[in-house]
Amino acid sequence: RTSLDIEEYPDWEVQKNRILTLEEWQDKWVTHKIGFHQEQGHQLLKKHLDTFLKRESGLRVFFPLCGKAVEMKWFADRGHSVVGVEISELGIREFFMEQNLSYSEEPIAEIPGTKVFKSSSGNISLYCCSIFDLPRANIGKFDRIWDRGALVAINPGDRKCYVDIMLSLLRERFQYLLAVLSYDPTKHAGPPFYVPDTEIQRLFGTKCNILCLEKVDTFEERHKTWGIDYIFEKLYLLTEK
Ligand SMILES: C[S@@+](CC[C@H](N)C(=O)[O-])C[C@H]1O[C@@H](n2cnc3c(N)ncnc32)[C@H](O)[C@@H]1O
Repeated sequence: RTSLDIEEYPDWEVQKNRILTLEEWQDKWVTHKIGFHQEQGHQLLKKHLDTFLKRESGLRVFFPLCGKAVEMKWFADRGHSVVGVEISELGIREFFMEQNLSYSEEPIAEIPGTKVFKSSSGNISLYCCSIFDLPRANIGKFDRIWDRGALVAINPGDRKCYVDIMLSLLRERFQYLLAVLSYDPTKHAGPPFYVPDTEIQRLFGTKCNILCLEKVDTFEERHKTWGIDYIFEKLYLLTEK
């Protein structure tokens, strides 16, 4: 079997009981095990950005599990307002520092012990808490969601709950871009977890139209340590049904 012609792996449920704790994620930031971070930003998003934005201005864009994704700055620089959620305070601070943005921090009143970090210009707000606590803070609705390294990082058993939160955050006429990975899940335990097409249909199919925009080979040297020899990325556009 060769890379791009593989549609789905039948044994995807092999990862279904795998759990990563929030502490394990925070620890990845402390120990710099953040191979997922893309310094140049996501090339498929770059390619589809204009279509995604549809020449609209002043959009509200949500970044679930945002890390220090540089794409947040792309949207802010185009005049849109960005809200992200990330459990690692270190990741959030690194984002503002690396992007040369001054910021302030304040407690999230509804979620004791957590903070929100806001750029001084006011158009980037990053909530430092679990995505599963976020619904307690009233963050409003969004026109766009950019989901990369997010659904694929959520523990497989929590996907339904995660998707319900995503769908509850969307405004009418939303556009939701979702990037997932496809590789042999019997060889690598994840994260990122393998999310097959059938799972996307199950999670989003009743509420969204689902269109696969791209399927590209993304194999890099670092993937060899996962025990795999090919991996590809799929980009989906989800819109209101
Ligand atoms: C694979 S990384 C992707 C980061 C970013 N989206 C990117 O493209 O670079 C997943 C991120 O989600 C964070 N995370 C994991 N579980 C979370 C949760 N339940 N709530 C908020 N953040 C979480 C991790 O700390 C990590 O930074």
